[in-house]
Amino acid sequence: MPTLFDPVTLGDIRCANRIIMAPMTRSRANEEDAPTEMNALYYGQRASAGMIITEGVYPNFDGKGYVRTPGIVTEAQIAGWKLVADAVHAKGGKIVMQIMHCGRITSRHNKPEDSRTLAPSTIQAKGEMMTDAAGMVAFEVPEAMTMAEIKQSIADYGQATKNALAAGCDGVELHCTSGYLPAQFLSTGTNQRDDDYGGSLDNRLRFVIEVLNAMTEAAGAGRVGIRICPGNPFNDLSDENPEETFRALIDRINPMGLAYLHVIRAKAGVDNIELSKSFDGPVILNESYVLDNGNRAIAKGLADAISFGKPFIANPDLPEKFRAGAELKAPDFATMYVPGPKGYVDYD
Ligand SMILES: Cc1cc2nc3c(=O)[nH]c(=O)nc-3n(C[C@H](O)[C@H](O)[C@H](O)COP(=O)(O)O)c2cc1C
Repeated sequence: MPTLFDPVTLGDIRCANRIIMAPMTRSRANEEDAPTEMNALYYGQRASAGMIITEGVYPNFDGKGYVRTPGIVTEAQIAGWKLVADAVHAKGGKIVMQIMHCGRITSRHNKPEDSRTLAPSTIQAKGEMMTDAAGMVAFEVPEAMTMAEIKQSIADYGQATKNALAAGCDGVELHCTSGYLPAQFLSTGTNQRDDDYGGSLDNRLRFVIEVLNAMTEAAGAGRVGIRICPGNPFNDLSDENPEETFRALIDRINPMGLAYLHVIRAKAGVDNIELSKSFDGPVILNESYVLDNGNRAIAKGLADAISFGKPFIANPDLPEKFRAGAELKAPDFATMYVPGPKGYVDYD
């Protein structure tokens, strides 16, 4: 029976263990939205994970949501990510970049002046987000994407994938939950289009399928994963029938042969672990796992690997701590999203 300490192959990515670092936005990119030596140090410190999934990275400027988050668009950004990938590889680790287009979950204060806020429909999300310039502000009112803008965004995911590989990443993950652009297309509450990208279930799935096609064309399916959390209401997301939506999505992606399905488990209304059984490839499960329940999920065949978020923040050597049965440190929430090294690269 495999445990968290055994190797696993996710598509084309061979991982030395099944302890995956979950994607975590830490808001510490530089003024060009590029990673720096400090970010390379942070990820390098965590390279003993079987695989690292990076924080969400935007594929075009419109897709930037949160303050000080990195992109994979410009030469400076690609060069910054190369520092990160090299640091992880130098220690024998693997790194996959999470591609995250926030759609309507953004503020103009957080992104370039000439960028826009695009979404499937002109429905503003309820809620606020943090900015450096103006503190907490309401989410923008989005513009409904034209057909040309949809096609451009899909192409941008493909180019972002190429750029991630050019930076040396081992693969990419589509962020398809938490109320961001792909989830906005999937869900009835945010997608009220009446063209090929909205209305019927098939039409709501189209954007995500075409984005995955663009990503797999760029990287090969064995280097592309997808993250989902059916029923996740985060960022004012609602769907009339998330279980039906995601069952259909999994049916549609099964023939693609993706590297993995990454599922956040704990949300009201949908049994996401049950749902993930219908995926034909490797499954990574996430949320509130520790050593014991992680090993149990693997032993039961529910997961091929487990991703850990918060535990990796304060315990860069998490696999070693698990091996030793050592007590885990708790992360400092006050420094989660602030600039600088404190609460970032100073855990040991
Ligand atoms: C500081 C922080 C930032 C996060 N940023 C992202 C992100 O960029 N992309 C994403 O998919 N999930 C993000 N998450 C969610 C985590 O990947 C993970 O799903 C969550 O922390 C639950 O796992 P855990 O119980 O092991 O921490 C973030 C979580 C935290 C704590």
